[in-house]
Amino acid sequence: MTDVEIKKGLAGVTVDYTAVSKVNPDTNSLLYRGYPVQELAATQPFEAVAYLLWHGELPDAAQLAEFEASERAQRALDENVKITIDLLPLDAHPMDVVRTAVSVIGASDPEAYDSSRESDLRKSARLFAKLPAIVAYDQRRRRGQELIDPRDDLDYSSNFLYMTFGDLPDEVVRRAFNVSMILYAEHSFNASTFTARVITSTMSDLYSAVVGAIGALKGPLHGGANEAVMHIFDDIGSADNVGPWLDAALAEKRKIMGFGHRVYKKGDSRVPTMKAALDTLVEHYSADGPDAGDLAALYDALEAEFVSRKGIYPNLDYPSGPAYHLMGFDTLTFTPLFVAARVTGWTAHIIEQAASNALIRPLSAYNGPEERHIAGYVADP
Ligand code: ACO
Repeated sequence: MTDVEIKKGLAGVTVDYTAVSKVNPDTNSLLYRGYPVQELAATQPFEAVAYLLWHGELPDAAQLAEFEASERAQRALDENVKITIDLLPLDAHPMDVVRTAVSVIGASDPEAYDSSRESDLRKSARLFAKLPAIVAYDQRRRRGQELIDPRDDLDYSSNFLYMTFGDLPDEVVRRAFNVSMILYAEHSFNASTFTARVITSTMSDLYSAVVGAIGALKGPLHGGANEAVMHIFDDIGSADNVGPWLDAALAEKRKIMGFGHRVYKKGDSRVPTMKAALDTLVEHYSADGPDAGDLAALYDALEAEFVSRKGIYPNLDYPSGPAYHLMGFDTLTFTPLFVAARVTGWTAHIIEQAASNALIRPLSAYNGPEERHIAGYVADP
């Protein structure tokens, strides 16, 4: 054993600069290229936020129109991507389907190995445009439904919801979905973004970096938590069961998904905005039946009980899971929705990493057996 200080999980280690976003846990603030995420969520379409993350500035009207036209023209899935998805088992996890589809897009892209900034921006925009069709189609095929082709007269969020459900969303739903995409878009050196940067640092291609990032996001300690939140809600059942359920979970030292964060210890800056969006959905869907009200009661009860017992606050996955549930997404589709949003942040970081690259290769402290030798081995003279 050595006496070097080990920074397990790289906790507290600052490894590089980034100009993409700033997380300040002391003030619970998150800035994308300098803009508070709450202001972006309140005023911008997700398309403009994607442009901001890649280019550093919000688009003016002409730039936004040009970007939207290009995004709309690239939405449809190529036949080889659709055929590949069709080959995958219906019970494949949707994150595996998304990861595979991105890999096929990369393998088929003639400019996959052009590592210029301009080419990487085009590839980023291509993935941004196509991921909604992948996510929507995968949910539909698991429900035995046909693929719905994208519509180029709809904005990103309306088209995403239309391709998933087959009808145009109510404005309340469209707005909440747009807010969720913006809040999920970017969060500095989180595990999946860091994975993308590690892969980029070897001078690998953008698609490989995104595929790796999808793998990192899938885990329940990261993006997979939004899916896990719904499983917890199903398990608890109703608000009046929160106390006994929590007693058992904490006695077994289980992690309560949707709570806690490596960086934020006083609450996640994105939660109030997403909770407000969830509240609008609860009100909207309450007219359809008791499910929305029951879900809201369970949400509030678990939050109140867990925060009072442990002082650990909800993260973005806590309100977004129930929000996607109310919109009608399958629980298994929640983390792929995170992919569709976070691909903007990942690719902004990939482009930033490539522009001032240094191979990411930390050290380790060896704690295995001392040097030993194969019995009878004699080195060549
Ligand atoms: N449930 C129960 N206990 C928790 C939770 C939780 N959700 N989060 C932290 N703790 C406890 C730990 O058990 C630990 O207790 P101990 O000191 O008695 O052992 C202490 O708080 C510190 O927790 P760590 O896991 O060491 O903190 P870390 O910074 O490594 O963890 C993490 C952050 C992984 C997000 C953790 O809070 C967690 O597992 N949360 C649940 C999964 C989740 O919601 N992930 C989503 C992250 S945000 C996002 O991707 C949008």
